Amino acid sequence: MGFLNLKTRAQKAAERDRRITVEGLCEIIKPGYRLFLSGGPATPVHTIRHLAATDHPNLQDIEVIQLTTPSDFESLRAITPSKCRFKTFSIGENSARAMQMGLLDIVPTTIAELPFMFLSGAVEIDVAIVQTSTPDKSGNVSLGTVNDVNRIAIANAAIAIAEINPNVPVTHGDTRMSLSEFDYVIESAEPLLEFSAGPYDGTLDCIGRQIATLVEDGSTVSLSMGRLFDAVAAHLREKKNLKVWTHIVSDWIIGLSESGALASYDAMRRKSPVVTTSCIGTRRLYDFVNGNPNVWLLPLFNSTHQQAMLGIKKLVSVLNVNKIDITGDSVFLSERDLQITGFDSKLNFALAATHSRGGKVIVGLRSTDRQGNSNIVISQPGSPIQNRCMLGSIRYVVTEFGVATIFAKPIRERVLALIEVAHPDHRSRLFEEAKAGGLVFGDQVFVVEHGINYPYALETMAPFKDGLAVKFRAIRPSDEDMMRRLFYQFSDEAKYLRYFTALRAMPHSEMQQYLNVDYISTLSLVGIIQTRGVGRIIAECRYSQFAEENIYEMAFIVDEHYQGRGIARYMLNRLLEIGRERGIERMSAYVLAHNAKMIAVLEKAAVPPRVIDLGEQLRYDYYL
Ligand SMILES: CC(C)(COP(=O)(O)OP(=O)(O)OC[C@H]1O[C@@H](n2cnc3c(N)ncnc32)[C@H](O)[C@@H]1OP(=O)(O)O)[C@@H](O)C(=O)NCCC(=O)NCCS
Repeated sequence: MGFLNLKTRAQKAAERDRRITVEGLCEIIKPGYRLFLSGGPATPVHTIRHLAATDHPNLQDIEVIQLTTPSDFESLRAITPSKCRFKTFSIGENSARAMQMGLLDIVPTTIAELPFMFLSGAVEIDVAIVQTSTPDKSGNVSLGTVNDVNRIAIANAAIAIAEINPNVPVTHGDTRMSLSEFDYVIESAEPLLEFSAGPYDGTLDCIGRQIATLVEDGSTVSLSMGRLFDAVAAHLREKKNLKVWTHIVSDWIIGLSESGALASYDAMRRKSPVVTTSCIGTRRLYDFVNGNPNVWLLPLFNSTHQQAMLGIKKLVSVLNVNKIDITGDSVFLSERDLQITGFDSKLNFALAATHSRGGKVIVGLRSTDRQGNSNIVISQPGSPIQNRCMLGSIRYVVTEFGVATIFAKPIRERVLALIEVAHPDHRSRLFEEAKAGGLVFGDQVFVVEHGINYPYALETMAPFKDGLAVKFRAIRPSDEDMMRRLFYQFSDEAKYLRYFTALRAMPHSEMQQYLNVDYISTLSLVGIIQTRGVGRIIAECRYSQFAEENIYEMAFIVDEHYQGRGIARYMLNRLLEIGRERGIERMSAYVLAHNAKMIAVLEKAAVPPRVIDLGEQLRYDYYL
C-alpha cells in the first residue's frame, strides 16, 4: 500500500501485458473487497455496466465507493445488498433514500477533509478503477474530467486499474499520470456520461443578472453546476479579467471563455484563469477542456484547501439555496444538492471568500417554491433529509425581486431588506410576523404596496471623473443605515442648502418616512459606490408631486467627498428623463439664491430651464 507501491508497479508493468477484460476483473475482485470508482463523467461506465450485469460468484458483499454517483445511473439501480453496498460521502435525494433502505453508507465529512480519509488509510481501498484517456506516445494518460481524489485512490489502492477511453479529454493542471502507475488496463470506448440541467427560465435569468451586477471586473468567481450558475455566467460575459476558482465547472465556462470575459493565461507565473477539480457537463465541455491550458484541474487537496485560496483577491462565492431565514443567517439547502458536488464545497468557497480581500458571499434563490410558498421564511421546521446550515457570512441575498444587502446590517434592517426581495404576495405576512416576533421596531413603517411599485428598471451604472463608478437605483426602506451615514456626515450648511432649514437630526421615525416612498408621486434615487466590496450611498435625489398638479419638485444631495464630479448633473438629467417617460408636464427645483453649485447644475440641464426669482430663492422650471 501507499506510495512505495508505485515503483513496484512500474517495474511490474514493464514485465507483463496488463490489459484485462471486465470478465478478467471479476477474477481479481474477491468477496468483501472495497472498490473505488472515479465519479461523475469519469465514471468507468464500461466496467460498471458489466459488474451490474454479471452473476460472477466473486461479486459478493462488495463495497463500492464513489464520490459523485450519477443519480440515474445503473450503478445505483444495480445495488442488491448481497452483491454490493455503496459507500459515499454525499447526501442527496437519491442517496438519502438509499440510506433509508439500508443500501448505502454515508460518511459525513467536508470536502477539505475528504482527501485525508484516503491518504491516512482511514478508508482503505482494495481496487481503484479510474477512467483515463488513452496513453500518449510516452505512455502517459490523463485523468480527464475529474481530478478529485483519484490520484490518491490510485496510489493507495492495493490494485489500481485504468479504464482507458479515447473519449476522455486530455486536460491540464495535475491530471497527467503514467500508465505504469496502474496494475491493469481495461479498454473502453463508451461515451462519457453527460449532465445537463436544461435551459433556465426568466426568473433565474433575472437572479443571474442581478448577481452579475455584484461582480466587479477582475474578480475570481466561484460558481458551480446547475441552472442558476448557467444564468449567472451568461451575465458575466460582459465583464473583464475574470478568473474562476471552483470545485466544478460546467458548460457555462465555454460562453464565459468565448466572450473574452476571462483573464488570459499568465505565462510568466504559469497560472491558468480557471482552476477546478471537475468538469461536469456535456460533450461540448469535454471537447472544450481537451488540450486547453486555460482550464486547470487540480486535486481536491490543492483546489479546496483554504490555504490554497489564501491570497485570492475579490473571491466571489455564489451559493444557491432552497430557503433562507428572514435574518439571512440560516440557509436551507436543496435536497438535490449533493454535499460533495454541491453544498459542502460551496460552503468551503464561501469561507474562502470571507477571508478574501474584497471577497463576497452571494446567495441566490427564487422568491417562492413550486407550491407558491415563500422561500424567505421566518423559521422553518427541519426535515430529516434536508441539509441546513448557519452560514453567517452572507453579504447579499438575491431573488428575482432584487438584491438584499445584509452585510454588517442589524437584524431589523436585514429583515426589511429580505422582505423587500420576498415575493409581493408574502411581504405583508412576513412583515407582520417579523413585527410580532420583535425582529423589527414596533413603529416600523413598511408599506407593502410601495414595494410592489419598486421600479427595478430604473437601475443604472454611470461613470464619473477619476474612474468613479456609481450605481443608481430607487431607494428602499432598508437603506436606513446608509442614509443615516450620508445625512450625518453633511455639514450644517449642506443640510440647510438641501432642506432649507437648520436640520440637526433625522431620527428613525422621520428617516423611515423619508425612505418609504411610493415610487409614483415621490421617487427617490440613491447613488451607491462599492468600496472594498461594501456598498455606500453617496448621493440622493428625488422628486415629489405638488398637491393635485402634474408638477413635481426635485431636490439633490451629494456626499461632500464626491462633489464636483458631475453626479448632481447626471441625477438632474436622469430625473428629467424619467419625468418625461412618465408623462410629467413640469418639474421644478427650488434653490437658495446663494447656492452657486446647485445653480451651476440647474442652469446646464438637458432641458432649458425657466428661472423664477423668488427673492431669497430661485425656482427652476423644466417643461417636459
Ligand atoms: C449642489 C450639489 C448637489 C452639487 O453636487 P455635485 O455632484 O458636486 O454637482 P456637479 O459635480 O454635477 O456639478 C457641480 C457644478 O458646480 C460648479 N461649482 C462648484 N463649485 C462652485 C462654486 N463655488 N461656484 C459656482 N459653481 C461651482 C462646478 O464647476 C460644476 O459645474 P460644471 O460641471 O459646469 O463645472 C452638492 O454640492 C450638494 O449636495 N450640496 C448640498 C445640498 C444642496 O445644495 N442641494 C441642492 C438643493 S436643491
